Amino acid sequence: MEINRRQFLTYLGAGTAALASLATGIPALAEGESASGKTADDLFGLDAKASNRPKFLPIKATSKDDVVLPNGYKYEVIALYGDKINSKGDTFGMNADFTCYLPIEGKSDHGLLWVNHEYCGELEYYVNGYDTLNSDSSKNLRTAEQIEKYLYALGGSIIEVKKADGKWTLVADSKYGRRISGLTKHTVTGPAAGSKAMNGAKEVIGTFANCSGGSTLWNTILSCEENYDTVVKECKLPDATHYGWVIEADPFDPKSTPKKHTALGRFSHENTAMTIATTGQLVVYMGDDANDQYVYKYVSKGKYDPTAGKNNSKLLEEGTLYVANFGKGTWVALDYETNSALKSAKNTEGQPLFTSQADVLVNCREAAKTVGGTPMDRPEDLEVHPIDGSIFIALTNNSKHGNFYGQIVRMFEKDKNHAGTSFEFEIFATGGPQSGFAAPDNLAFDKAGNLWVVTDISSGSMNSGIYKKFGNNGLFFIPTTGSRKGDAFQFASAPVGAEMTGPWFTPDEKTLFLSVQHPGENLASYDAPTSHWPHGGTAVARPGVIAITGF
Ligand code: FEO
Ligand code: CA
Ligand code: CA
Repeated sequence: MEINRRQFLTYLGAGTAALASLATGIPALAEGESASGKTADDLFGLDAKASNRPKFLPIKATSKDDVVLPNGYKYEVIALYGDKINSKGDTFGMNADFTCYLPIEGKSDHGLLWVNHEYCGELEYYVNGYDTLNSDSSKNLRTAEQIEKYLYALGGSIIEVKKADGKWTLVADSKYGRRISGLTKHTVTGPAAGSKAMNGAKEVIGTFANCSGGSTLWNTILSCEENYDTVVKECKLPDATHYGWVIEADPFDPKSTPKKHTALGRFSHENTAMTIATTGQLVVYMGDDANDQYVYKYVSKGKYDPTAGKNNSKLLEEGTLYVANFGKGTWVALDYETNSALKSAKNTEGQPLFTSQADVLVNCREAAKTVGGTPMDRPEDLEVHPIDGSIFIALTNNSKHGNFYGQIVRMFEKDKNHAGTSFEFEIFATGGPQSGFAAPDNLAFDKAGNLWVVTDISSGSMNSGIYKKFGNNGLFFIPTTGSRKGDAFQFASAPVGAEMTGPWFTPDEKTLFLSVQHPGENLASYDAPTSHWPHGGTAVARPGVIAITGF
């Protein structure tokens, strides 16, 4: 796509735009002034703030097999699938997704990076030699050894990263370097731990399908098990109720056992966004990334105590899970004791659907449907605006509804109380050729409240049909205030077949970590890779994490 004149003026910045307008005849905008007149911030009690203009010349959509960035920015590869991450010889997992930078001593040039590893898909061949392109999926002929490699490739990695002489590197013998994988033991917490609904499990083996996640206020990470059902099937695992949870891991304690927090419900979790309500309670926003699934929030029973450190983790064990009803603007509690609809719900044989809170949590989708949650168009990331506390929700798309391009919804809790039960919302930005982006997925805010959005056009649809004009997947900058509110400017483009995932800034916002997931996916033959990123030539593509600098 060509950059239009408005975008070019934006690039030039406020001062220069005034000069440029003399030449172009387009009136210069004052700070906070709206050109389109679409700003209705007053409806939500917001002040129209000064516009936040990108400090880069937006790139054009492209199908180039590389990470393409604006002039003045560069990327470095931090870790790729198979790279050694500690002296034991553990290796970086497959299809990197969510990243979370945890500073060491507050530094922006030295820290730990948690990285999710989501799935294998057809690229499993490069993990364990299993040829999914030519195998009969109904037979599942994976050997025990292939399954072990598969499960080890997923979960998360903790790596130590350091910037020296202007260059980011992975510390390959780090004492923090660790894999938490599909083979790692987890403790189960909350109402479903040890319950009949989980067949008595208090401990379970493995985390996988780790899509996105979030950080906690006490320096641990939450990682979300999304499409667990595929892995359960392909790895012939006995009990699916062990998966589909939010896990908590402590990257700074290499001996810690990760936890699965059942109070946050079981579904295809995309990410978590944690905040503190005006009541002092901890609130976690979450989405279930599937067609016609729901938006949730968890509100802790107890209050966050900044002096309690990691003991605040207990807040994730007792609380109320809510599902959003957008038609009424209400949060409905998924609470077996107080919700009569849950108590009286029956299955097709006339048996009770739920007999306990554990049943409700394990079968969250059924419970959400029962109480009138609003089915959404693939709710992926939710993030809380760092300045005004509104909640942004990426709805990727839903071809069943003719929603091919997706949109970003902005939710406003009543009285800015995140623990409350009433909200309003607006459609903040819509995907499509008019905005230049399609299929919004992970979101991140910078401190100025600008939104950074990655897109997830599926590798099978990319660069073809109605998606052709968008090129490869990308990363977009969208101001949330001022005259350019809601306008998307492309900052990065991904290699062929890939999706960029997990954007995360260092505290000084001079580095952006980003995963390059599934480059080369949707290939017809393993002999003919469609991407060679990052090594080029005839090399097979490797998913991994990059650091972008130049901000
Ligand atoms: Fe794993 Fe919803 O993307
Ligand atoms: Ca995702
Ligand atoms: Ca995705």
